[in-house]
Amino acid sequence: MAALRIGVLASGRGSNLEAIIGAVRRGELDAEVAVVISDVADARALDVARKAGVEALYVDPEKKKARMSAAAEQRIIDELRKRDVGLVALAGFMRILSSEFVAAFKMRILNIHPSLLPSFPGLGVQKKALEYGVKFSGCTVHFVDEGVDTGPIIIQAAVPVLDDDTVESLSARILEEEHRIYPEAIRRFAAGRLKIEGRRVILLPEGA
Ligand code: GRF
Repeated sequence: MAALRIGVLASGRGSNLEAIIGAVRRGELDAEVAVVISDVADARALDVARKAGVEALYVDPEKKKARMSAAAEQRIIDELRKRDVGLVALAGFMRILSSEFVAAFKMRILNIHPSLLPSFPGLGVQKKALEYGVKFSGCTVHFVDEGVDTGPIIIQAAVPVLDDDTVESLSARILEEEHRIYPEAIRRFAAGRLKIEGRRVILLPEGA
């Protein structure tokens, strides 16, 4: 069976992209990053891709809002399809996808979010967790549905929130876990081990 081809969508720094590429390189993830697409022309993620020899594309989002234009989304869908992408991994992609986009890759879009969902969906969530006073936060890899950070959960990792934490120190502790669980979630997807039952994602035994 041909290795899973991943299309990564990223708007910024691209550290999760680096973690995914690293896992592929080390042979821990039987998949290939086929293309990285960004809505930000000078996103570091595009440089990360180029340096790793992965095709990097900028697509003009044509809108400043949370959602791209329908034409921009269609272009991204076309570019992903052209490259036979079987999984779309959102890695710090700062746009909300339309239901048409979600339907085009039904249950084949993953996202990483820096909180323990369903607590703290949306943006700036490390700060929100700190200010709320929770004693644990963490990160979540989930399937993407029509909502914002609402899809079925694949893996979560918890980290303690310490009394002397700043947004930066808490974010760094969470990020370390992001880099561990995102490649692992993709590995499970690639191995066909994720069975969705309603909101629940059941992990099938290896080789089943
Ligand atoms: C991460 O914290 C991720 O959870 C969130 O956006 C950030 C992206 O970081 N969705 P990077 O671009 O992967 O470094």
